[in-house]
Amino acid sequence: MEFTEKDLRRDSAHLSEDYAKVVILDQTRLPNEEVFLEIKELEEMYRAIKTLAVRGAPMIGVFAAHGMYVRALQKAGMEKEAFLQQMEEEGAYLVSSRPTAVNLSWAVREMLTEMKSHAKEPVAEIVEALRKKALAIHRENSEMSRRIAEYGLTLVKTGDGILTHCNAGPLACGAYGTATAPVLLGKELGIDFKVFSDETRPLLQGARLTSYELQKNGVDVTLICDNMASMVMKNGWVQAVFVGCDRIAANGDFANKIGTSGVAILAKHYGIPFYTLGPASTVDMNCPTGDDIKIELRNPDEIRTMWYEKPMALQEVKCFNPSFDVTDHELLTAIVTDRGVVYPPFDVNLKKLFG
Ligand code: MRU
Repeated sequence: MEFTEKDLRRDSAHLSEDYAKVVILDQTRLPNEEVFLEIKELEEMYRAIKTLAVRGAPMIGVFAAHGMYVRALQKAGMEKEAFLQQMEEEGAYLVSSRPTAVNLSWAVREMLTEMKSHAKEPVAEIVEALRKKALAIHRENSEMSRRIAEYGLTLVKTGDGILTHCNAGPLACGAYGTATAPVLLGKELGIDFKVFSDETRPLLQGARLTSYELQKNGVDVTLICDNMASMVMKNGWVQAVFVGCDRIAANGDFANKIGTSGVAILAKHYGIPFYTLGPASTVDMNCPTGDDIKIELRNPDEIRTMWYEKPMALQEVKCFNPSFDVTDHELLTAIVTDRGVVYPPFDVNLKKLFG
């Protein structure tokens, strides 16, 4: 399927029509307000990623690619050595904003590699090469989403109940999303599913984003609190679990939103197939196992006070707020990628496709 620039501009992060800014739909304001931000300063880019105004592993990568191009454009009048050095420094700074999703460092590395391959050309030509590269990364991301949708759809049948955790829909990934991609493609083809969306404490991506975008697309979606997943599974309402991923290690362990590993354990208990769905840019063959994935720790106030009129815990109470957890590959039925469905043994089969 061909994705035009107009299609790409429907995504929650994209280049403006004049190619001078990155436009994002501020995901912290959803579902109550649809606010678009135009970003061109480095610090604004860092903050947008850090505060989750732009979020979801693939979309952070797309945003970083566009961000690197927009930064390059503003340096187009610089002397070349200084240009190349500043681009390296700014790329490293962007990568430091969030550690877990590999797509961010992947996209920055792709952009810097492109820059270096044009390093002998005038700065203006390097900038133009970066614009094309950023758009290519974005287009490829959408194509991968579509292929994940097609592969994922082969694993379920009409009427199935699908449980998901966090948000791995179009807002997080562009196009059809990843975990929700089979559901949204199914909708287009007249194949209907019943989706259970975990609210996803503490930042409520399931409540604020997944149930919002599925509802808007006419999907039968039911929002549940995280601690209700066991009950809906026990009731026989879930035939498959589809979740996204922020980094897939070479042995099939993967990081995703905190709580994912608990859902995987429940699914195993109830004999429900458990899948993670992600693009090639999320597979990190340089990361041997889940133990090698750095987990982001976030501000304890996300647990204590955020979303509440009054604090719901004493300010001095100790909190542990990891943003992600690692799901052991032994709990996974298969990994759905844009290159196909990968079954165990994951170390062998991931190497065949991504080695
Ligand atoms: O902290 P977030 O909201 O960026 O976390 C997002 C997730 O954990 C998603 O499930 C993941 O990025 C996959 S999106 C395809």
